Amino acid sequence: MLLALAVAGAPAFAGIQQQAQGLAAEDRQCLKCHSFESLSKELEDGGTLSLHVIGDAFAQSVHHWIGCTNCHRDIDLDTHSQATGRKPYANKREYSIALSKVCNECHEDKSHLYQGSIHSSLVESGNLNAPVCTDCHGSHTVATRASYETLTGVPCKQCHENIFNAYLGSMHGQARSELGHIQAPICADCHRAHDVGAASIGDRLKDACVGCHQNAALQHKEWLPNAGLHLRSVSCAACHAPAARRKVDLMLYDGERQRPLSEKDVLPHFAKLPTAEQGGTVSLDAVELWKLVRAINQEGTAAEVTLRGRMEVATGVDAHQLAWKDKAIRDCGSCHADGAEPFQEVTVSLVREDGTRARYDAESEVLSSAVSLNSVGGFYALGGTRIKLLDVLLVLVVLGAASVPIVHLTMRKLLRKDRAKGDRK
Ligand code: HEC
Ligand code: HEC
Ligand code: HEC
Ligand code: HEC
Ligand code: HEC
Ligand code: HEC
Ligand code: HEC
Ligand code: HEC
Ligand code: HEC
Repeated sequence: MLLALAVAGAPAFAGIQQQAQGLAAEDRQCLKCHSFESLSKELEDGGTLSLHVIGDAFAQSVHHWIGCTNCHRDIDLDTHSQATGRKPYANKREYSIALSKVCNECHEDKSHLYQGSIHSSLVESGNLNAPVCTDCHGSHTVATRASYETLTGVPCKQCHENIFNAYLGSMHGQARSELGHIQAPICADCHRAHDVGAASIGDRLKDACVGCHQNAALQHKEWLPNAGLHLRSVSCAACHAPAARRKVDLMLYDGERQRPLSEKDVLPHFAKLPTAEQGGTVSLDAVELWKLVRAINQEGTAAEVTLRGRMEVATGVDAHQLAWKDKAIRDCGSCHADGAEPFQEVTVSLVREDGTRARYDAESEVLSSAVSLNSVGGFYALGGTRIKLLDVLLVLVVLGAASVPIVHLTMRKLLRKDRAKGDRK
């Protein structure tokens, strides 16, 4: 009572009465103080936390019927605005992370999914920029599910702005923004909203594409020999983002445990190398790579480690510059030609503890050098650096679509021969 009287004397009181129509009396009680824009709290790091809550916005949120104290259960009105009731918080981020835990109490399913996500493991490993519930949903303005799946309301763009802009220009983004086709995917349709995974590990993203484009495998078979192999070893974006820079990534893969090798298994071997993102000037050559793979295998920490080749686009932004199908790359020569662009940039990668991928630069020769035959395995045999193959191939392609099986067989034969030659080197 004492508190209420104290506030009743405040000059802006009449205005506050008109706010937050439809809220329970207890909630309006809280807003008597918290609708003051200037109300704030000092944090231990010297910063301030604004304590201003917009009652009208809360009244329009999906939670308007949940009383303030159902989320803020620890608030004791008698003491909480006074010195004795003051709780210390280190900084704004710590406050958000602590308070957002309340969402888990009623949305256990989402919280469970979130806890398996890369965002959650980033938060746990101390990344202050990775999101908790309230970063994506807000705290007092939580809206319906549909609102987070629109171009204006999608929460991901706050932090992945460059990717959002690239996505907007993609055919999926255009289908939404210009054609109004809401069945075209937005971030969470490919990445999921709560159990967001690491982008370049596993088949999850590819499976998302194929989930909507169920005929994709058949459609590519019509013109692309060995379509299955291509769809496995070439990322969809490497052909569908025609303007992207492409490269080859060799992922260290633990055959015994059937998963990508993790950094902590082999850190000493990599500790000296700067990652590609750090603009490393040191890059692995074929002999070093061979030694590395051999050393890892001998150590016994992870047996049967091999390198899995995959052609992918160079950056996360590139991966979202997808274009309509008539722009997609179908020219065999853009990959199967001497000195073809995608083979000039090579990285070797493994998985960090937080789930993201660490990439290390390698010399492009690791793909063609005889020394790498064992370490780089199947991917090495690619026609990407052999012009003779292209000539034969083009002649055969000119013969027409009917000859696709012949192209395929001939390619296989040629590659076999080449493989054999490589072996003898
Ligand atoms: C008499 C004014 C007043 C009323 C009424 C009031 N508060 Fe506060 N509140 C404050 C002040 C002042 C602070 C800052 C206290 C501090 O510095 O620790 C605060 C801090 C807070 C904080 C942030 C700090 C923390 O401890 O988490 C929350 C959340 C909060 N109030 C919620 C509520 C809720 C919910 C109600 C209604 C049940 C309410 N307040 C009613 C004045 C008020
Ligand atoms: C659905 C749960 C929920 C309800 C209902 C709720 N809050 Fe909050 N509130 C939170 C969370 C979570 C935070 C922490 C937000 C952050 O910083 O990430 C928070 C933060 C706050 C803060 C600190 C300032 C800020 O915005 O970060 C104040 C003050 C506050 N709430 C007051 C209120 C009042 C007053 C009401 C009722 C009108 C209310 N809350 C209703 C969940 C809730
Ligand atoms: C990285 C952003 C992000 C984070 C973090 C996040 N969400 Fe969501 N959430 C979304 C998006 C986007 C949607 C709408 C799309 C969907 O549901 O697939 C959504 C939908 C929801 C829905 C409605 C789903 C339905 O099926 O009706 C609930 C409830 C929800 N989130 C709760 C939570 C809770 C609780 C947390 C924290 C444990 C959380 N969210 C963390 C982005 C996020
Ligand atoms: C006290 C229980 C409770 C708490 C705590 C709570 N919610 Fe909710 N939330 C609900 C209920 C119940 C609904 C369904 C409301 C409706 O359909 O009108 C809901 C709806 C939602 C929706 C919209 C779902 C849809 O289908 O459109 C989202 C998003 C959401 N909550 C996120 C959150 C977030 C984020 C937090 C933490 C800041 C949180 N909730 C805290 C009970 C809670
Ligand atoms: C509050 C900021 C924030 C929001 C909101 C956010 N993210 Fe993230 N996200 C991060 C940070 C930080 C990382 C760590 C890697 C980085 O810096 O890009 C990350 C990483 C990722 C990764 C993994 C990248 C990798 O290296 O494999 C994906 C995928 C991702 N986010 C997708 C999403 C999607 C989808 C949404 C919306 C549903 C979203 N993010 C919302 C901050 C955010
Ligand atoms: C059509 C499916 C699709 C949509 C829609 C989509 N992404 Fe992606 N995203 C991908 C693919 C595929 C990759 C790259 C995987 C790889 O490296 O091979 C990726 C990669 C990422 C990465 C990791 C980038 C990096 O640096 O490694 C982030 C972060 C991300 N997406 C966020 C988003 C956000 C935010 C949105 C919405 C604006 C979004 N994505 C929309 C499919 C999609
Ligand atoms: C949620 C379903 C969904 C997902 C996931 C999805 N797409 Fe799409 N995609 C669509 C729809 C719908 C269209 C048609 C857009 C339109 O015409 O309105 C489309 C269009 C396309 C087109 C253009 C076809 C044309 O006619 O030019 C290509 C190519 C394509 N998608 C490739 C991909 C790739 C690659 C991925 C994964 C990285 C992917 N899609 C993920 C639904 C999806
Ligand atoms: C080697 C290059 C290449 C790769 C890899 C590739 N595509 Fe394509 N894709 C194309 C080309 C070229 C077309 C256009 C074919 C045409 O118009 O006849 C196409 C067409 C499509 C279409 C439109 C089909 C139609 O006829 O409407 C979809 C959808 C599609 N691709 C999805 C995917 C998905 C999903 C992946 C990854 C799993 C993928 N593509 C991988 C080159 C590729
Ligand atoms: C975007 C790059 C790209 C394009 C375009 C492309 N390929 Fe490939 N192709 C590859 C890669 C990478 C491999 C090797 C996959 C592996 O070894 O894991 C491959 C493998 C092959 C193989 C199988 C070789 C073997 O070892 O069995 C044949 C045959 C082939 N391509 C023919 C073609 C033809 C014909 C075209 C044009 C219609 C074409 N490719 C277009 C990248 C491409």
